[in-house]
Amino acid sequence: MPADLPPSADHPDPTPDALIAARPYLARHAMDGLLLEGVPLAAIAQSVGTPTWVYGAATIRARFHALAAALAEARLPAHIHFAVKANDHLAVLRLLGREGAGADVVSAGELLRARAAGIPASRVVFSGVGKTAADLRLALGLGIAQVNVESAEELAMLSDVAAGMGRVAPVALRVNPDVDAGTHAKISTGRARDKFGIPYVSAAALYAHAATLPGIDPCGLAMHIGSQIRTLAPFRAAYDRIAGLVRDLRAAGQRVAVVDCGGGLAIPYRDEPVAGPVGLAGAIAAAFGGLDVELLIEPGRWLVGPAGVLLASVILVKRDGESRFVVLDAAMNDLLRPAMYDAWHGIVPVAAADLVGRLAPADVVGPVCESSDTFARDRALPPLAPGALVAILDAGAYGAVMSSTYNARPLAAEVLVNGGADVGPDAGPQDGTGVGADDRANIGADDGARGQRRPEARWAVIRPRQDVATLWRDETVPDWLK
Ligand code: LLP
Repeated sequence: MPADLPPSADHPDPTPDALIAARPYLARHAMDGLLLEGVPLAAIAQSVGTPTWVYGAATIRARFHALAAALAEARLPAHIHFAVKANDHLAVLRLLGREGAGADVVSAGELLRARAAGIPASRVVFSGVGKTAADLRLALGLGIAQVNVESAEELAMLSDVAAGMGRVAPVALRVNPDVDAGTHAKISTGRARDKFGIPYVSAAALYAHAATLPGIDPCGLAMHIGSQIRTLAPFRAAYDRIAGLVRDLRAAGQRVAVVDCGGGLAIPYRDEPVAGPVGLAGAIAAAFGGLDVELLIEPGRWLVGPAGVLLASVILVKRDGESRFVVLDAAMNDLLRPAMYDAWHGIVPVAAADLVGRLAPADVVGPVCESSDTFARDRALPPLAPGALVAILDAGAYGAVMSSTYNARPLAAEVLVNGGADVGPDAGPQDGTGVGADDRANIGADDGARGQRRPEARWAVIRPRQDVATLWRDETVPDWLK
């Protein structure tokens, strides 16, 4: 099954208007064009250039609280551990950490990032199929909350490392429940043939063995069956299997205090129907509500995906018979998802005039020398001229983190908008990159009291565009080539 539904007669591509209307943090302004949390994206592009990732802080916050509220409503004692791999920018981690999120990390680098962003190790769980002894030593030294162990081999390694340090590692066994998440094959993780987790049938024996190891305190179970899971059925099936295992383990005299339910909640890239936090909370409650276990979830995409766009400029429009190729200055090295998973991302024009243009099909591509460097085929877009701006939507998760510098293309800039904040009339971009307060006067559709100056939205460059010379800064040419 493709990651995102292919166009079909009964589910045609949403138009740019429909995409904007379905996303509360986006709005159209008659003069300023597309706004993200009240800030004109054109102003950001003018100041910072393109391609640029733009994230909305208020949107991320609102999504975190919506998810937390859904869990609280279902009376679940569940902690949200943001899957750092989705967006590991320090500012994003800081923002989520301040709202109360913990972190789910899969490498020493992610662990250190979470720490650098102020998330204490006591709120971090460490997942991943191939942690090294050095990774585990680091994590234990920092006082990690939980290590999600994925194999008997890792369990033995962790016990040795912990015992050598005079420690006992808090461990959840990640179990592979052998459930098909019904998502793209490349992001399915819970089938028996996938590399992840301990086979369901051997989990109970390994748990009992773990309890005998000197460096291990088995405290619970973990699972994660995949990503962009649109329906609740796979979650329910997997949760039921894990709940059954909790009961079996307890019946055998084991202590099971924690269940980590993993991530995987989908977002509607194409405005297709997907299960949301309320449904997920209901499924968790149905399986674990009566079990007296502490619960964790590890969402990544759902929290940050919709909150980000990739802002790009049209380099040129190439016409080839019937075809129209809109060539952007963003490419697969920036946003890899379409090339890697055939993923569908909304693309909307930014300029006010382009937002009312007549729509016709176009292929939207990047300049990288691969045919897979294609963001969209036959997408209904207005006649975009060279220099026109477009926003590629729902790019806040698995966007910047998966970028490369392929084709010697420097990493794009990143901007964080703080549209929800009441920051006073004079607040401008925090880095002073040029857009004055006046440029953004009266930009919101919901200005409140007429005649009063609305508090300005604020934004900041959180990573400048990479300088091209940085690409080869650490490279050397050996003497014998000089
Ligand atoms: N926990 C574990 C152990 C994971 O491996 C993942 C994602 C998550 C949580 C978070 O899953 P989420 O809530 O974001 O679905 N690059 C792909 C997605 C890869 C997901 C990998 N694991 C994409 O762009 O679609």
